[in-house]
Amino acid sequence: MSRRKKIYEGKAKTLFEGPEPGTIVQYFKDDATAFNAEKRDVIEGKGVLNNMLSEYFMVGLNMIGVPTHFIKRLNMREQLVRAVEIVPLEIIVRNYAAGSLAKRLGLEEGTQLPRPIVEYCLKDDKLGDPLVSEEHIAAFGWASAQDMDDILSLALRVNDFMAGVLYGVGIRLVDFKIEVGRVFEGDFQRLIVADEISPDSCRLWDVETGQKLDKDVFRRDLGSLTDAYTEVARRLGVMPKGATPMARPTLIN
Ligand code: TMP
Ligand code: ASP
Repeated sequence: MSRRKKIYEGKAKTLFEGPEPGTIVQYFKDDATAFNAEKRDVIEGKGVLNNMLSEYFMVGLNMIGVPTHFIKRLNMREQLVRAVEIVPLEIIVRNYAAGSLAKRLGLEEGTQLPRPIVEYCLKDDKLGDPLVSEEHIAAFGWASAQDMDDILSLALRVNDFMAGVLYGVGIRLVDFKIEVGRVFEGDFQRLIVADEISPDSCRLWDVETGQKLDKDVFRRDLGSLTDAYTEVARRLGVMPKGATPMARPTLIN
């Protein structure tokens, strides 16, 4: 790790220069933060789980033709990804009311929405990632009209894929956040899914019991975050039954 040049350190991941131009090594840390890093902790094993789960979702998306930055997993905590120019937006897709939407509009958590709702937040920790409209995005040039068409299409395709895969293992996809990045291919440029897709950036509820299996467990002090993420990984077959992320790492290699 120390041999590589660090490019960026975020709250949950560190990015290093990749072995070839145009590649990056994404290292998943155990650090958990919430409420714009006001609440923080180190949750042993979280990085391993998110590395595996993000790999699982990104590989699936690549297979059905939704382009992502994922190239391959390198080890328990690292994956090789394409270098992208991140669009400075957090793209949120919601199927059920929860979190900030429930609060903002006075909706009961868990209310099914009439259709998936896509929201945009400006990626700016200092401002607390404020909600912005397409008017703001166009006026300030954070993304073009073409970008916004592509982003909407990517977001809805990710939603359909994730909701289907998760429903198959008894998990409701309440909402999630993605980030997209720009890659240049010859004279062309296109947007691809970047960052991570993991229980850190989704709301996942057990279909039967409503039990939360995502970062709200940490945000709201509802129990063990590792247990929740391990349950998601087990159901998806990402980790064999009985394996724990720290104790038996060779089993999940
Ligand atoms: P929200 O209800 O707090 O706006 O969150 C909506 C979804 O986006 C939820 O699945 C959590 C995810 N999210 C992030 O991944 N990062 C963030 O910084 C925020 C605010 C939300
Ligand atoms: N606000 C993010 C969350 O709650 C995390 C953070 O910004 O620290 O998901």
